[in-house]
Amino acid sequence: MSKIIAVLNQKGGAGKTTLATNLARSLQVNGKEVLIVDSDPQGSARDWNAASEGELVSVIGLDRSTLAKDIQSIKSNKDFIVIDGAPQIADLAVAAIKCSDVILIPVQPSPYDIWACEDLVDVIKARQEVTDGFPKAAFVISRSIKNTQLSKEIADALKDYDLPVFENYTSQRVIYAKSAAVGLTVLYIEPGNEAAKEIVAIKDELLEFVKC
Ligand SMILES: Nc1ncnc2c1ncn2[C@@H]1O[C@H](COP(=O)(O)OP(=O)(O)OP(=O)(O)O)[C@@H](O)[C@H]1O
Ligand SMILES: [Mg+2]
Repeated sequence: MSKIIAVLNQKGGAGKTTLATNLARSLQVNGKEVLIVDSDPQGSARDWNAASEGELVSVIGLDRSTLAKDIQSIKSNKDFIVIDGAPQIADLAVAAIKCSDVILIPVQPSPYDIWACEDLVDVIKARQEVTDGFPKAAFVISRSIKNTQLSKEIADALKDYDLPVFENYTSQRVIYAKSAAVGLTVLYIEPGNEAAKEIVAIKDELLEFVKC
């Protein structure tokens, strides 16, 4: 049975595409069959895939509100489908929430960014209420600044939403942008680098989260 992981946040630049592409690749390196569904009309994941010389993870574009239905037809032969969300909370995000098993919300550790998630969290919770807590959802901190702990203010702001926050996060590192520019992931460039360790740790946490 394939699992659908949607990476959503209506805020632009939250780190959706970075997390979606790196996680997808990490799952693939782990031996899983993975497909990225680019639900963003900007087509960033498709651009990423096109920039790559050797194809890393297959990407298809499904940026219509019939997303949930369209996904059913491609679902069967994949272990994971990773949806890269669009920076809006419109039909597309609602469709992604309806068809996903897990929603990851990348969020930068700033109060403005956290407050901007309110509408998305409301939609997810409304869905969870009618479907027995499904899909599961969690925040993943992105672009954390090195050597600063998640401050109490940030932790408190996130707590108000009453959704889990992954222990693992991405830090602010140039390699995330550099690798994306050439259609790669941080796993590809300098194996064993610190960013790769972050992604593998998030992937492992996701695999546990999907299970329980
Ligand atoms: N951990 C990180 N360290 C450094 N740069 C990062 C990190 N995560 C993302 N970025 C950079 O931040 C920018 C925004 O990231 P990304 O495109 O993943 O966000 P997004 O949520 O998909 O944006 P959009 O809403 O436009 O789709 C990109 O230039 C990306 O390379
Ligand atoms: Mg994006």
